[in-house]
Amino acid sequence: MAIRAVFLVGLCCVLQSNGIEVEASENNGCQNFQPHTVMLQEKQAYRTSFHFQPPRNWLNDPNGPMWYRGVYHLFYQYNPYGALFGDFMIWAHSVSYDLINWIHLNHALCPTEPYDINSCWSGSATILHGKGPIILYTGIDANHCQVQNMAMPKNLSDPFLEEWIKFAQNPIMTPPDGVEGNNFRDPTTAWLSHDGKWSVIIGSWSNNQGMAILYQSEDFFNWTKYQDPLYSTERTGMWECPDFYPVAVNSTYGVDTSVLNAGVKHVMKASFNSHDYYMIGTYVPEMQKYIPDNDFTGTSMDLRYDHGKFYASKTFFDSVKNRRILWGWVNESDSIEDDMDKGWSGLQSIPRHIWLDRSGKQLVQWPIEEINKLHGEKVSFLHKKIDSEAIFEVQGITAAQADVEVVFELPELQEAEFLNLTAVDPQLLCSDANASIKGKLGPFGLLTLATKDLTEQTAIFFRIFKGLKGHVVLMCSDQSRSALRDEVDKTTYGTFIDIDPQRENISLRCLIDHSIIESFGGEGRACITNRIYPKLAIHEEAHLFIFNNGTLSVTISSLNAWSMNKAQMNHKENFIYKASH
Ligand code: FRU
Repeated sequence: MAIRAVFLVGLCCVLQSNGIEVEASENNGCQNFQPHTVMLQEKQAYRTSFHFQPPRNWLNDPNGPMWYRGVYHLFYQYNPYGALFGDFMIWAHSVSYDLINWIHLNHALCPTEPYDINSCWSGSATILHGKGPIILYTGIDANHCQVQNMAMPKNLSDPFLEEWIKFAQNPIMTPPDGVEGNNFRDPTTAWLSHDGKWSVIIGSWSNNQGMAILYQSEDFFNWTKYQDPLYSTERTGMWECPDFYPVAVNSTYGVDTSVLNAGVKHVMKASFNSHDYYMIGTYVPEMQKYIPDNDFTGTSMDLRYDHGKFYASKTFFDSVKNRRILWGWVNESDSIEDDMDKGWSGLQSIPRHIWLDRSGKQLVQWPIEEINKLHGEKVSFLHKKIDSEAIFEVQGITAAQADVEVVFELPELQEAEFLNLTAVDPQLLCSDANASIKGKLGPFGLLTLATKDLTEQTAIFFRIFKGLKGHVVLMCSDQSRSALRDEVDKTTYGTFIDIDPQRENISLRCLIDHSIIESFGGEGRACITNRIYPKLAIHEEAHLFIFNNGTLSVTISSLNAWSMNKAQMNHKENFIYKASH
Protein backbone atom coordinates (compact mmCIF):
# COMPACT_ATOMS: atom_id res chain seq x y z
CA MET A 1 0.00 0.00 0.00
CA ALA A 2 2.81 2.36 0.92
CA ILE A 3 4.45 1.75 -2.42
CA ARG A 4 1.27 2.60 -4.25
CA ALA A 5 0.73 5.78 -2.30
CA VAL A 6 4.13 6.98 -3.45
CA PHE A 7 3.64 6.10 -7.09
CA LEU A 8 0.17 7.46 -7.49
CA VAL A 9 1.47 11.02 -7.32
CA GLY A 10 1.04 12.39 -10.81
CA LEU A 11 -0.66 9.21 -11.96
CA CYS A 12 -4.24 8.18 -12.33
CA CYS A 13 -5.71 4.80 -11.61
CA VAL A 14 -7.63 2.93 -14.30
CA LEU A 15 -9.86 -0.06 -13.83
CA GLN A 16 -9.56 -1.81 -17.17
CA SER A 17 -12.33 -3.73 -18.89
CA ASN A 18 -10.41 -6.88 -17.99
CA GLY A 19 -10.91 -6.10 -14.30
CA ILE A 20 -7.26 -5.29 -13.62
CA GLU A 21 -6.38 -2.15 -11.72
CA VAL A 22 -3.35 -0.48 -13.19
CA GLU A 23 -1.55 2.76 -12.72
CA ALA A 24 -1.80 4.98 -15.73
CA SER A 25 0.77 7.67 -16.10
CA GLU A 26 0.19 10.82 -18.10
CA ASN A 27 3.87 10.60 -18.90
CA ASN A 28 5.22 7.14 -19.63
CA GLY A 29 8.73 8.51 -19.78
CA CYS A 30 9.13 7.74 -23.48
CA GLN A 31 8.00 11.09 -24.86
CA ASN A 32 11.50 12.51 -24.97
CA PHE A 33 12.84 9.56 -26.92
CA GLN A 34 10.32 8.83 -29.60
CA PRO A 35 11.65 7.01 -32.65
CA HIS A 36 13.55 8.96 -35.22
CA THR A 37 11.42 9.24 -38.28
CA VAL A 38 14.36 10.22 -40.46
CA MET A 39 16.20 7.22 -41.82
CA LEU A 40 19.93 7.17 -42.04
CA GLN A 41 21.41 7.40 -45.49
CA GLU A 42 19.89 4.58 -47.50
CA LYS A 43 23.10 3.82 -49.36
CA GLN A 44 25.06 2.91 -46.23
CA ALA A 45 26.91 -0.22 -47.33
CA TYR A 46 26.19 -2.28 -44.22
CA ARG A 47 22.60 -1.30 -43.61
CA THR A 48 20.26 -4.18 -44.31
CA SER A 49 17.29 -4.27 -46.65
CA PHE A 50 15.06 -7.02 -45.35
CA HIS A 51 16.19 -7.57 -41.78
CA PHE A 52 14.41 -5.80 -38.94
CA GLN A 53 16.17 -2.58 -37.95
CA PRO A 54 15.03 0.66 -36.34
CA PRO A 55 16.05 3.83 -38.21
CA ARG A 56 19.08 4.30 -35.98
CA ASN A 57 20.75 3.54 -32.60
CA TRP A 58 21.50 0.40 -30.64
CA LEU A 59 19.19 -2.64 -30.59
CA ASN A 60 19.57 -5.92 -28.72
CA ASP A 61 17.20 -8.65 -27.51
CA PRO A 62 13.79 -9.29 -29.08
CA ASN A 63 11.19 -8.82 -26.33
CA GLY A 64 7.56 -9.91 -26.00
CA PRO A 65 6.94 -11.10 -29.58
CA MET A 66 3.30 -12.05 -30.11
CA TRP A 67 0.39 -12.15 -32.51
CA TYR A 68 -2.71 -10.49 -31.15
CA ARG A 69 -5.94 -9.81 -33.04
CA GLY A 70 -4.46 -9.73 -36.53
CA VAL A 71 -1.22 -7.92 -35.70
CA TYR A 72 2.30 -9.19 -34.99
CA HIS A 73 4.14 -7.26 -32.31
CA LEU A 74 7.86 -7.05 -31.80
CA PHE A 75 9.32 -5.17 -28.85
CA TYR A 76 13.07 -4.94 -28.51
CA GLN A 77 15.81 -3.64 -26.28
CA TYR A 78 16.77 -0.20 -27.55
CA ASN A 79 19.07 2.63 -26.51
CA PRO A 80 17.36 5.87 -27.53
CA TYR A 81 20.59 7.83 -26.95
CA GLY A 82 23.03 6.21 -29.34
CA ALA A 83 24.61 3.38 -31.27
CA LEU A 84 26.10 1.57 -28.26
CA PHE A 85 24.50 -0.26 -25.33
CA GLY A 86 23.42 2.20 -22.65
CA ASP A 87 22.32 2.57 -19.06
CA PHE A 88 18.84 3.77 -20.05
CA MET A 89 17.45 0.83 -22.02
CA ILE A 90 13.84 0.90 -23.14
CA TRP A 91 11.28 -1.31 -24.90
CA ALA A 92 10.86 -0.05 -28.45
CA HIS A 93 7.82 -1.38 -30.31
CA SER A 94 6.99 -2.22 -33.93
CA VAL A 95 4.02 -3.98 -35.51
CA SER A 96 3.47 -5.92 -38.69
CA TYR A 97 0.85 -7.80 -40.64
CA ASP A 98 3.31 -10.28 -42.15
CA LEU A 99 6.48 -10.33 -39.98
CA ILE A 100 8.44 -8.83 -42.90
CA ASN A 101 7.19 -5.26 -43.37
CA TRP A 102 7.12 -3.27 -40.14
CA ILE A 103 5.66 -0.09 -38.72
CA HIS A 104 7.69 1.56 -35.97
CA LEU A 105 5.49 2.86 -33.16
CA ASN A 106 6.15 5.13 -30.22
CA HIS A 107 8.18 3.38 -27.54
CA ALA A 108 6.29 1.13 -25.16
CA LEU A 109 8.20 1.10 -21.85
CA CYS A 110 10.74 3.59 -20.57
CA PRO A 111 12.35 4.02 -17.15
CA THR A 112 10.04 6.15 -14.99
CA GLU A 113 9.56 4.53 -11.60
CA PRO A 114 11.87 3.45 -8.76
CA TYR A 115 11.38 -0.19 -9.85
CA ASP A 116 12.68 0.45 -13.41
CA ILE A 117 14.33 3.88 -13.19
CA ASN A 118 17.69 2.56 -14.44
CA SER A 119 16.37 0.57 -17.44
CA CYS A 120 13.56 -1.60 -18.71
CA TRP A 121 15.33 -4.86 -19.60
CA SER A 122 14.16 -7.97 -21.40
CA GLY A 123 10.95 -9.89 -20.89
CA SER A 124 8.05 -11.58 -22.59
CA ALA A 125 4.36 -11.28 -23.38
CA THR A 126 1.65 -13.70 -22.26
CA ILE A 127 -1.84 -13.57 -23.70
CA LEU A 128 -4.44 -14.19 -21.00
CA HIS A 129 -7.48 -15.82 -22.49
CA GLY A 130 -10.27 -13.26 -22.79
CA LYS A 131 -8.16 -10.59 -21.08
CA GLY A 132 -5.47 -9.64 -23.56
CA PRO A 133 -1.70 -9.53 -23.36
CA ILE A 134 0.44 -8.78 -20.33
CA ILE A 135 4.14 -7.98 -20.42
CA LEU A 136 6.54 -9.22 -17.76
CA TYR A 137 9.87 -7.38 -17.88
CA THR A 138 12.96 -6.84 -15.79
CA GLY A 139 13.39 -3.42 -14.25
CA ILE A 140 16.72 -2.12 -13.06
CA ASP A 141 15.59 -0.39 -9.91
CA ALA A 142 16.91 2.64 -8.04
CA ASN A 143 19.47 0.42 -6.25
CA HIS A 144 20.58 -1.15 -9.54
CA CYS A 145 18.88 -4.36 -8.52
CA GLN A 146 17.00 -6.55 -11.04
CA VAL A 147 13.29 -6.93 -10.26
CA GLN A 148 10.36 -8.23 -12.30
CA ASN A 149 7.54 -5.91 -13.33
CA MET A 150 4.30 -6.10 -15.21
CA ALA A 151 2.64 -3.85 -17.80
CA MET A 152 -0.54 -4.04 -19.85
CA PRO A 153 -2.05 -2.21 -22.82
CA LYS A 154 -3.77 1.05 -21.92
CA ASN A 155 -6.44 0.52 -24.54
CA LEU A 156 -7.25 -3.01 -25.69
CA SER A 157 -9.30 -1.69 -28.59
CA ASP A 158 -6.26 0.07 -30.12
CA PRO A 159 -5.26 -2.44 -32.84
CA PHE A 160 -1.55 -1.58 -32.39
CA LEU A 161 -1.62 -1.62 -28.55
CA GLU A 162 0.63 1.39 -28.69
CA GLU A 163 0.43 2.61 -25.11
CA TRP A 164 1.43 0.45 -22.16
CA ILE A 165 0.88 1.13 -18.50
CA LYS A 166 2.70 -0.28 -15.53
CA PHE A 167 1.07 -2.27 -12.75
CA ALA A 168 0.51 -0.36 -9.50
CA GLN A 169 2.01 -3.13 -7.37
CA ASN A 170 5.31 -3.43 -9.23
CA PRO A 171 7.74 -4.97 -8.58
CA ILE A 172 6.01 -8.33 -8.51
CA MET A 173 9.20 -10.33 -7.88
CA THR A 174 12.45 -9.32 -6.20
CA PRO A 175 15.65 -11.41 -5.98
CA PRO A 176 15.04 -14.32 -3.57
CA ASP A 177 17.48 -15.27 -0.80
CA GLY A 178 20.78 -16.46 -2.21
CA VAL A 179 20.34 -14.67 -5.54
CA GLU A 180 22.30 -11.49 -6.13
CA GLY A 181 20.56 -8.42 -7.46
CA ASN A 182 22.47 -8.58 -10.76
CA ASN A 183 21.57 -12.22 -11.51
CA PHE A 184 17.80 -12.23 -11.68
CA ARG A 185 16.27 -11.36 -15.01
CA ASP A 186 14.41 -11.96 -18.27
CA PRO A 187 11.01 -13.53 -17.46
CA THR A 188 9.63 -15.98 -20.04
CA THR A 189 6.14 -16.19 -21.47
CA ALA A 190 4.03 -17.72 -18.67
CA TRP A 191 2.17 -20.99 -19.10
CA LEU A 192 -1.05 -22.22 -17.49
CA SER A 193 -0.99 -25.62 -15.79
CA HIS A 194 -3.85 -28.08 -15.43
CA ASP A 195 -4.32 -27.02 -11.80
CA GLY A 196 -5.15 -23.52 -13.06
CA LYS A 197 -1.88 -21.98 -11.83
CA TRP A 198 0.37 -19.77 -13.95
CA SER A 199 4.08 -20.56 -14.04
CA VAL A 200 6.99 -18.49 -15.31
CA ILE A 201 10.77 -18.82 -15.17
CA ILE A 202 13.40 -16.18 -14.53
CA GLY A 203 17.05 -16.56 -15.60
CA SER A 204 19.60 -16.67 -12.82
CA TRP A 205 22.99 -17.68 -11.46
CA SER A 206 23.34 -18.71 -7.86
CA ASN A 207 25.62 -21.06 -5.94
CA ASN A 208 27.78 -21.51 -9.02
CA GLN A 209 24.83 -22.76 -11.03
CA GLY A 210 22.97 -21.36 -13.99
CA MET A 211 19.24 -21.81 -13.46
CA ALA A 212 15.62 -21.23 -14.33
CA ILE A 213 13.93 -19.99 -11.13
CA LEU A 214 10.26 -20.95 -11.12
CA TYR A 215 7.44 -18.70 -9.90
CA GLN A 216 3.75 -19.57 -9.70
CA SER A 217 0.57 -17.55 -9.44
CA GLU A 218 -3.16 -18.14 -9.14
CA ASP A 219 -4.13 -14.76 -10.56
CA PHE A 220 -1.06 -13.62 -12.57
CA PHE A 221 -0.43 -10.73 -10.16
CA ASN A 222 0.72 -12.36 -6.93
CA TRP A 223 3.69 -14.61 -7.59
CA THR A 224 5.35 -17.11 -5.23
CA LYS A 225 8.74 -18.67 -5.81
CA TYR A 226 8.68 -22.44 -6.04
CA GLN A 227 11.13 -24.12 -3.64
CA ASP A 228 13.44 -25.47 -6.40
CA PRO A 229 14.44 -24.16 -9.79
CA LEU A 230 12.76 -25.84 -12.75
CA TYR A 231 16.27 -26.73 -13.89
CA SER A 232 19.79 -25.84 -12.73
CA THR A 233 23.29 -26.84 -13.80
CA GLU A 234 26.91 -26.17 -12.98
CA ARG A 235 27.90 -26.45 -16.62
CA THR A 236 26.74 -23.03 -17.84
CA GLY A 237 27.12 -19.37 -17.00
CA MET A 238 24.39 -17.01 -15.84
CA TRP A 239 21.17 -17.83 -17.71
CA GLU A 240 20.03 -14.86 -19.76
CA CYS A 241 16.75 -14.84 -21.68
CA PRO A 242 15.58 -18.38 -20.88
CA ASP A 243 12.82 -19.77 -23.08
CA PHE A 244 10.62 -22.78 -22.28
CA TYR A 245 8.05 -24.20 -24.67
CA PRO A 246 6.44 -27.37 -25.99
CA VAL A 247 7.12 -28.72 -29.49
CA ALA A 248 4.90 -31.26 -31.24
CA VAL A 249 6.38 -34.70 -31.91
CA ASN A 250 6.25 -35.63 -35.62
CA SER A 251 4.79 -32.34 -36.80
CA THR A 252 6.04 -29.00 -38.02
CA TYR A 253 3.02 -27.30 -36.41
CA GLY A 254 3.64 -25.31 -33.28
CA VAL A 255 1.60 -25.47 -30.10
CA ASP A 256 0.61 -22.88 -27.50
CA THR A 257 3.06 -22.48 -24.62
CA SER A 258 0.57 -24.00 -22.14
CA VAL A 259 0.00 -27.24 -24.10
CA LEU A 260 1.10 -30.38 -22.23
CA ASN A 261 0.18 -33.85 -23.48
CA ALA A 262 1.76 -37.05 -24.72
CA GLY A 263 2.25 -35.52 -28.17
CA VAL A 264 4.78 -32.89 -27.08
CA LYS A 265 8.34 -32.60 -25.82
CA HIS A 266 9.64 -29.49 -24.06
CA VAL A 267 12.51 -27.25 -25.11
CA MET A 268 14.54 -25.35 -22.51
CA LYS A 269 16.78 -22.64 -23.96
CA ALA A 270 19.28 -20.45 -22.15
CA SER A 271 21.63 -17.74 -23.42
CA PHE A 272 25.15 -17.76 -21.98
CA ASN A 273 28.76 -17.48 -23.15
CA SER A 274 27.53 -15.54 -26.22
CA HIS A 275 25.43 -18.42 -27.57
CA ASP A 276 21.89 -19.78 -27.34
CA TYR A 277 21.91 -23.39 -26.10
CA TYR A 278 18.92 -25.67 -25.74
CA MET A 279 17.86 -29.07 -24.48
CA ILE A 280 14.93 -31.25 -25.49
CA GLY A 281 13.18 -33.14 -22.72
CA THR A 282 10.15 -33.81 -20.58
CA TYR A 283 8.31 -31.40 -18.34
CA VAL A 284 6.79 -33.02 -15.24
CA PRO A 285 4.46 -30.43 -13.67
CA GLU A 286 3.56 -32.66 -10.68
CA MET A 287 7.20 -32.47 -9.56
CA GLN A 288 7.87 -29.08 -11.17
CA LYS A 289 10.90 -30.59 -12.86
CA TYR A 290 12.36 -30.46 -16.31
CA ILE A 291 14.08 -33.69 -17.29
CA PRO A 292 16.21 -33.21 -20.39
CA ASP A 293 16.95 -36.14 -22.70
CA ASN A 294 20.56 -34.92 -22.52
CA ASP A 295 21.81 -32.45 -19.92
CA PHE A 296 24.09 -29.56 -20.87
CA THR A 297 27.67 -30.81 -20.94
CA GLY A 298 29.50 -27.51 -21.26
CA THR A 299 31.15 -28.82 -24.48
CA SER A 300 30.68 -28.38 -28.23
CA MET A 301 28.27 -31.35 -28.05
CA ASP A 302 25.54 -29.12 -26.60
CA LEU A 303 22.71 -28.19 -28.97
CA ARG A 304 22.73 -24.66 -30.28
CA TYR A 305 20.18 -22.71 -32.31
CA ASP A 306 22.89 -21.15 -34.40
CA HIS A 307 26.64 -21.66 -34.64
CA GLY A 308 27.43 -18.08 -35.63
CA LYS A 309 26.18 -14.83 -34.14
CA PHE A 310 22.71 -15.22 -32.66
CA TYR A 311 21.83 -14.43 -29.05
CA ALA A 312 19.12 -13.69 -26.46
CA SER A 313 16.49 -15.22 -28.72
CA LYS A 314 12.83 -15.72 -27.96
CA THR A 315 10.01 -17.77 -29.49
CA PHE A 316 6.27 -17.21 -29.61
CA PHE A 317 3.32 -19.30 -30.75
CA ASP A 318 1.72 -17.81 -33.85
CA SER A 319 -1.87 -18.94 -33.37
CA VAL A 320 -2.97 -17.66 -36.77
CA LYS A 321 -0.64 -19.98 -38.69
CA ASN A 322 -0.17 -22.61 -35.98
CA ARG A 323 3.58 -22.37 -35.88
CA ARG A 324 6.26 -21.41 -33.39
CA ILE A 325 8.51 -18.57 -34.46
CA LEU A 326 12.01 -17.77 -33.25
CA TRP A 327 13.61 -14.32 -33.23
CA GLY A 328 17.24 -13.73 -32.27
CA TRP A 329 19.48 -10.72 -31.82
CA VAL A 330 22.42 -10.55 -34.23
CA ASN A 331 25.06 -8.21 -32.89
CA GLU A 332 27.68 -6.26 -34.84
CA SER A 333 31.24 -7.51 -35.09
CA ASP A 334 32.70 -4.30 -36.48
CA SER A 335 34.72 -1.84 -34.37
CA ILE A 336 32.99 0.44 -31.86
CA GLU A 337 34.16 3.49 -33.82
CA ASP A 338 32.53 2.15 -36.95
CA ASP A 339 29.31 1.38 -35.09
CA MET A 340 29.21 4.98 -33.92
CA ASP A 341 29.93 6.25 -37.42
CA LYS A 342 27.13 4.13 -38.86
CA GLY A 343 24.79 5.42 -36.15
CA TRP A 344 23.28 2.01 -35.45
CA SER A 345 24.14 -1.42 -34.08
CA GLY A 346 22.35 -4.73 -34.06
CA LEU A 347 19.75 -6.55 -36.13
CA GLN A 348 17.00 -9.03 -35.55
CA SER A 349 17.36 -12.30 -37.45
CA ILE A 350 14.79 -13.19 -40.07
CA PRO A 351 11.99 -14.77 -38.02
CA ARG A 352 12.43 -18.53 -38.18
CA HIS A 353 9.77 -21.20 -38.10
CA ILE A 354 11.03 -23.74 -35.54
CA TRP A 355 9.96 -27.35 -34.91
CA LEU A 356 11.19 -30.70 -33.62
CA ASP A 357 13.14 -32.79 -36.12
CA ARG A 358 11.79 -36.22 -37.09
CA SER A 359 14.67 -37.74 -35.12
CA GLY A 360 13.36 -36.04 -31.94
CA LYS A 361 16.99 -35.19 -31.17
CA GLN A 362 17.17 -31.59 -32.35
CA LEU A 363 15.17 -28.62 -33.61
CA VAL A 364 14.86 -27.51 -37.23
CA GLN A 365 14.67 -23.85 -38.29
CA TRP A 366 13.56 -22.33 -41.56
CA PRO A 367 12.97 -18.72 -42.61
CA ILE A 368 9.24 -18.00 -42.37
CA GLU A 369 7.47 -18.47 -45.70
CA GLU A 370 6.49 -14.76 -45.83
CA ILE A 371 10.09 -13.89 -46.72
CA ASN A 372 9.39 -15.30 -50.19
CA LYS A 373 7.13 -12.30 -50.81
CA LEU A 374 10.30 -10.27 -51.26
CA HIS A 375 11.66 -12.47 -54.05
CA GLY A 376 12.57 -10.50 -57.19
CA GLU A 377 14.45 -11.72 -60.30
CA LYS A 378 15.15 -15.41 -60.24
CA VAL A 379 17.97 -17.54 -61.60
CA SER A 380 17.78 -21.31 -61.53
CA PHE A 381 19.33 -24.41 -63.02
CA LEU A 382 19.42 -28.16 -62.57
CA HIS A 383 22.06 -30.91 -62.75
CA LYS A 384 25.31 -29.10 -63.12
CA LYS A 385 28.53 -30.96 -62.40
CA ILE A 386 31.24 -29.03 -60.60
CA ASP A 387 34.61 -30.59 -61.18
CA SER A 388 37.50 -30.47 -58.81
CA GLU A 389 38.78 -26.89 -58.32
CA ALA A 390 35.95 -25.42 -60.40
CA ILE A 391 34.33 -22.12 -59.62
CA PHE A 392 31.58 -20.25 -61.44
CA GLU A 393 29.51 -17.19 -60.89
CA VAL A 394 25.75 -17.13 -60.32
CA GLN A 395 24.78 -14.10 -62.40
CA GLY A 396 21.55 -12.22 -62.87
CA ILE A 397 20.67 -11.42 -59.26
CA THR A 398 21.70 -8.71 -56.79
CA ALA A 399 24.32 -10.69 -54.91
CA ALA A 400 24.41 -8.29 -51.92
CA GLN A 401 20.67 -8.72 -51.34
CA ALA A 402 19.67 -12.27 -52.19
CA ASP A 403 18.08 -15.55 -51.21
CA VAL A 404 19.98 -18.59 -52.54
CA GLU A 405 19.03 -22.24 -52.26
CA VAL A 406 21.35 -24.90 -53.61
CA VAL A 407 21.22 -28.69 -53.35
CA PHE A 408 24.37 -30.77 -53.80
CA GLU A 409 24.49 -34.39 -54.93
CA LEU A 410 27.60 -36.38 -54.12
CA PRO A 411 28.31 -38.97 -56.82
CA GLU A 412 31.65 -40.06 -55.34
CA LEU A 413 30.62 -40.41 -51.71
CA GLN A 414 32.39 -43.70 -51.11
CA GLU A 415 35.74 -41.94 -51.79
CA ALA A 416 35.40 -39.49 -48.87
CA GLU A 417 38.40 -39.20 -46.54
CA PHE A 418 38.35 -40.72 -43.07
CA LEU A 419 37.71 -38.66 -39.91
CA ASN A 420 38.18 -40.07 -36.44
CA LEU A 421 35.37 -38.36 -34.63
CA THR A 422 36.42 -38.73 -31.00
CA ALA A 423 36.40 -35.33 -29.34
CA VAL A 424 36.55 -33.27 -32.52
CA ASP A 425 35.26 -29.72 -32.20
CA PRO A 426 33.64 -28.83 -35.55
CA GLN A 427 34.47 -25.13 -35.23
CA LEU A 428 38.15 -26.02 -34.81
CA LEU A 429 37.99 -28.36 -37.81
CA CYS A 430 36.60 -25.48 -39.87
CA SER A 431 39.20 -22.98 -38.71
CA ASP A 432 42.08 -25.43 -39.14
CA ALA A 433 41.04 -26.08 -42.74
CA ASN A 434 39.39 -23.01 -44.22
CA ALA A 435 37.84 -22.91 -47.70
CA SER A 436 41.22 -22.58 -49.42
CA ILE A 437 42.50 -25.89 -48.02
CA LYS A 438 41.83 -28.66 -50.49
CA GLY A 439 40.14 -31.87 -49.41
CA LYS A 440 38.58 -34.80 -51.19
CA LEU A 441 34.82 -34.36 -50.84
CA GLY A 442 34.81 -30.67 -50.13
CA PRO A 443 35.23 -27.92 -49.42
CA PHE A 444 32.33 -27.11 -51.76
CA GLY A 445 29.62 -24.47 -51.37
CA LEU A 446 28.99 -20.77 -51.95
CA LEU A 447 31.31 -17.79 -52.01
CA THR A 448 29.12 -14.93 -50.88
CA LEU A 449 29.69 -11.15 -50.79
CA ALA A 450 32.75 -11.69 -53.00
CA THR A 451 34.66 -9.30 -55.23
CA LYS A 452 35.00 -10.35 -58.86
CA ASP A 453 38.68 -11.22 -58.26
CA LEU A 454 37.79 -13.05 -55.00
CA THR A 455 40.09 -10.97 -52.80
CA GLU A 456 37.08 -10.51 -50.58
CA GLN A 457 34.80 -13.51 -50.09
CA THR A 458 32.91 -15.33 -47.38
CA ALA A 459 32.70 -19.06 -48.01
CA ILE A 460 29.82 -21.11 -46.65
CA PHE A 461 30.83 -24.68 -47.37
CA PHE A 462 30.70 -28.37 -46.58
CA ARG A 463 33.23 -31.17 -46.14
CA ILE A 464 32.13 -34.78 -46.11
CA PHE A 465 34.08 -37.43 -44.24
CA LYS A 466 33.76 -41.11 -43.57
CA GLY A 467 33.45 -41.85 -39.86
CA LEU A 468 33.35 -45.14 -38.00
CA LYS A 469 29.54 -45.19 -38.06
CA GLY A 470 28.86 -43.68 -41.48
CA HIS A 471 29.44 -40.36 -43.17
CA VAL A 472 30.03 -37.12 -41.30
CA VAL A 473 28.86 -33.78 -42.75
CA LEU A 474 30.69 -30.64 -41.63
CA MET A 475 29.28 -27.17 -42.38
CA CYS A 476 31.56 -24.14 -42.07
CA SER A 477 31.52 -20.41 -42.67
CA ASP A 478 34.94 -18.95 -43.36
CA GLN A 479 35.25 -15.23 -42.65
CA SER A 480 39.05 -15.13 -42.91
CA ARG A 481 38.83 -13.24 -46.22
CA SER A 482 35.48 -11.57 -45.67
CA ALA A 483 36.86 -8.02 -45.57
CA LEU A 484 40.03 -6.19 -46.51
CA ARG A 485 39.81 -4.55 -43.10
CA ASP A 486 41.68 -5.54 -39.94
CA GLU A 487 39.33 -4.22 -37.31
CA VAL A 488 36.44 -6.61 -37.98
CA ASP A 489 35.91 -10.02 -36.39
CA LYS A 490 36.91 -12.86 -38.76
CA THR A 491 36.01 -15.91 -36.69
CA THR A 492 35.36 -19.12 -38.59
CA TYR A 493 32.24 -20.96 -37.48
CA GLY A 494 31.35 -24.60 -37.91
CA THR A 495 29.06 -27.44 -36.94
CA PHE A 496 28.30 -31.04 -37.86
CA ILE A 497 24.92 -31.73 -39.46
CA ASP A 498 22.99 -34.86 -38.63
CA ILE A 499 22.49 -36.05 -42.23
CA ASP A 500 23.22 -39.34 -43.93
CA PRO A 501 24.39 -38.19 -47.38
CA GLN A 502 23.81 -41.70 -48.72
CA ARG A 503 20.08 -41.13 -48.33
CA GLU A 504 19.78 -37.41 -48.74
CA ASN A 505 21.35 -34.62 -50.80
CA ILE A 506 23.00 -31.75 -48.93
CA SER A 507 21.12 -28.47 -49.13
CA LEU A 508 22.19 -24.94 -48.28
CA ARG A 509 20.05 -21.82 -48.13
CA CYS A 510 21.66 -18.42 -47.57
CA LEU A 511 19.85 -15.16 -46.91
CA ILE A 512 22.38 -12.49 -47.85
CA ASP A 513 21.61 -8.93 -46.80
CA HIS A 514 24.62 -6.58 -47.19
CA SER A 515 26.28 -7.19 -43.80
CA ILE A 516 24.53 -10.36 -42.64
CA ILE A 517 24.36 -13.88 -44.02
CA GLU A 518 21.99 -16.36 -42.40
CA SER A 519 22.78 -19.90 -43.61
CA PHE A 520 20.58 -22.95 -43.19
CA GLY A 521 22.25 -26.31 -43.91
CA GLY A 522 20.60 -29.70 -44.26
CA GLU A 523 17.12 -28.21 -44.67
CA GLY A 524 17.45 -26.20 -41.50
CA ARG A 525 19.13 -28.73 -39.22
CA ALA A 526 22.18 -26.47 -38.84
CA CYS A 527 22.29 -22.66 -38.87
CA ILE A 528 25.21 -20.27 -39.01
CA THR A 529 24.76 -16.50 -38.96
CA ASN A 530 27.62 -14.22 -40.02
CA ARG A 531 28.13 -10.47 -39.87
CA ILE A 532 30.36 -9.35 -42.75
CA TYR A 533 31.76 -5.89 -43.50
CA PRO A 534 33.45 -6.02 -46.91
CA LYS A 535 35.35 -2.99 -48.09
CA LEU A 536 34.91 -3.64 -51.81
CA ALA A 537 32.24 -6.33 -52.21
CA ILE A 538 29.37 -3.94 -51.55
CA HIS A 539 26.22 -3.08 -53.52
CA GLU A 540 26.79 -3.84 -57.26
CA GLU A 541 30.40 -4.87 -56.58
CA ALA A 542 29.25 -7.93 -54.63
CA HIS A 543 29.20 -11.27 -56.47
CA LEU A 544 28.07 -14.81 -55.76
CA PHE A 545 29.99 -17.92 -56.79
CA ILE A 546 29.72 -21.67 -56.43
CA PHE A 547 32.96 -23.48 -55.81
CA ASN A 548 34.42 -26.92 -55.31
CA ASN A 549 37.86 -27.09 -53.82
CA GLY A 550 37.86 -30.87 -53.31
CA THR A 551 39.53 -33.41 -55.56
CA LEU A 552 36.22 -35.24 -56.09
CA SER A 553 33.42 -33.79 -58.17
CA VAL A 554 30.02 -32.78 -56.83
CA THR A 555 26.81 -32.08 -58.75
CA ILE A 556 24.38 -29.27 -58.16
CA SER A 557 21.06 -31.04 -58.41
CA SER A 558 19.24 -27.70 -58.25
CA LEU A 559 19.91 -24.04 -57.66
CA ASN A 560 17.35 -21.30 -57.14
CA ALA A 561 18.50 -17.78 -56.40
CA TRP A 562 16.51 -14.59 -56.12
CA SER A 563 17.26 -10.91 -55.81
CA MET A 564 15.48 -9.71 -52.72
CA ASN A 565 13.29 -6.63 -52.61
CA LYS A 566 13.45 -4.22 -49.75
CA ALA A 567 11.09 -4.69 -46.79
CA GLN A 568 9.02 -1.68 -45.73
CA MET A 569 10.04 -0.21 -42.39
CA ASN A 570 8.42 3.09 -41.63
CA HIS A 571 7.37 5.06 -38.65
CA LYS A 572 3.57 4.92 -38.36
CA GLU A 573 3.24 8.53 -39.55
CA ASN A 574 4.65 7.47 -42.90
CA PHE A 575 2.75 4.22 -43.11
CA ILE A 576 0.08 3.96 -45.74
CA TYR A 577 -2.46 1.31 -44.90
CA LYS A 578 -2.86 -1.00 -47.87
CA ALA A 579 -6.12 -2.83 -48.45
CA SER A 580 -4.13 -5.97 -49.24
CA HIS A 581 -3.11 -6.34 -45.60
C1 FRU B 1 20.85 -10.25 -23.00
C2 FRU B 1 20.65 -9.21 -21.92
C3 FRU B 1 19.54 -9.59 -20.98
C4 FRU B 1 19.08 -8.27 -20.45
C5 FRU B 1 19.22 -7.39 -21.66
C6 FRU B 1 19.56 -5.96 -21.38
O1 FRU B 1 21.42 -9.73 -24.14
O2 FRU B 1 21.85 -9.00 -21.22
O3 FRU B 1 19.92 -10.51 -19.99
O4 FRU B 1 17.78 -8.28 -19.96
O5 FRU B 1 20.23 -7.97 -22.47
O6 FRU B 1 19.48 -5.19 -22.54
